[in-house]
Amino acid sequence: MNYRHSFHAGNFADVHKHLTVLAVLEYLLLKPKPILFLDTHAGRGEYDLRSTDAARGNEWQEGIGRVFSGNYKSPLIQRYVEVIRKAQQGAGILHTYPGSPLIASHVLRDSDRKIFVEMQAEECLSLRKTLRQPQHHQVNTTVSQEDGYQALKAYLPPKERRGLVLIDPPFEAPNEFKLLDQALSHSAERWPDGVYCLWYPIKSGGLVNPFYAAVKRSGLRNLLLAELSVRPNDTPLGLNGSGLLIMNPPWQLDTRLREAYNELLPILAPNRQGHTRVEWLVGE
Ligand SMILES: C[S@@+](CC[C@H](N)C(=O)[O-])C[C@H]1O[C@@H](n2cnc3c(N)ncnc32)[C@H](O)[C@@H]1O
Repeated sequence: MNYRHSFHAGNFADVHKHLTVLAVLEYLLLKPKPILFLDTHAGRGEYDLRSTDAARGNEWQEGIGRVFSGNYKSPLIQRYVEVIRKAQQGAGILHTYPGSPLIASHVLRDSDRKIFVEMQAEECLSLRKTLRQPQHHQVNTTVSQEDGYQALKAYLPPKERRGLVLIDPPFEAPNEFKLLDQALSHSAERWPDGVYCLWYPIKSGGLVNPFYAAVKRSGLRNLLLAELSVRPNDTPLGLNGSGLLIMNPPWQLDTRLREAYNELLPILAPNRQGHTRVEWLVGE
């Protein structure tokens, strides 16, 4: 396994994914009852945007670099940018990008349970180190070095009976779409009421189409597609778009996401070649 998220941290796909995950979490946090946040492919939690890895493709400059300093109408973008700004150690300068564990920890309460799963030893060690810093004030938190797909079997259903599972694999394995589809079916059998966010890349060749078809065939319901593409989806080479399949999305999330994505798109895709798609793959 060679994947290093530090090459990609803060890119347009991270902006899209993290804004969406934050929106889901904030809906779940409207009720006082504790929730579980299970992040099956957690990464290292914090990425230095001045590192040689980040500088390799400078992907963050076309992602968070474009969004960080603006003012926004959408409450979802405002909230996301506020979280990223708070994560900076220096006054208002963008130096670091928080991964999903830190973004979630920022909004979760002490009573909520967080489980972060990461398979690569080095990434897992970094995550543990980052979370030990006093500003992250970690309680009720487990970091586990194991396979994220196995972890779904170990931790679901949770005792809280409410919560979000983020499945955000690196898509290095040729059968990752298949693993994702199977993971959703098995998890939904164990915990049908959970909220699930599954991330997938949108690349040329319609690689994602068999995934949509397989999920539809599974018989699961209440599935929302939330996608943002910065180029036409059939552009050869590279990542054209970022997608999240959301099962059991909170009420009216689709409307809020549409509003946020419409404001975000011209910023992330100033060439006007991008598009967004928030629609039901399968309704309730
Ligand atoms: C896309 S990155 C995760 C980014 C993170 N979720 C975020 O949003 O900040 C994917 C991560 O999965 C890890 N990984 C790869 N295979 C895994 C597996 N089978 N189980 C758990 N983690 C895995 C990689 O080391 C990498 O850190």
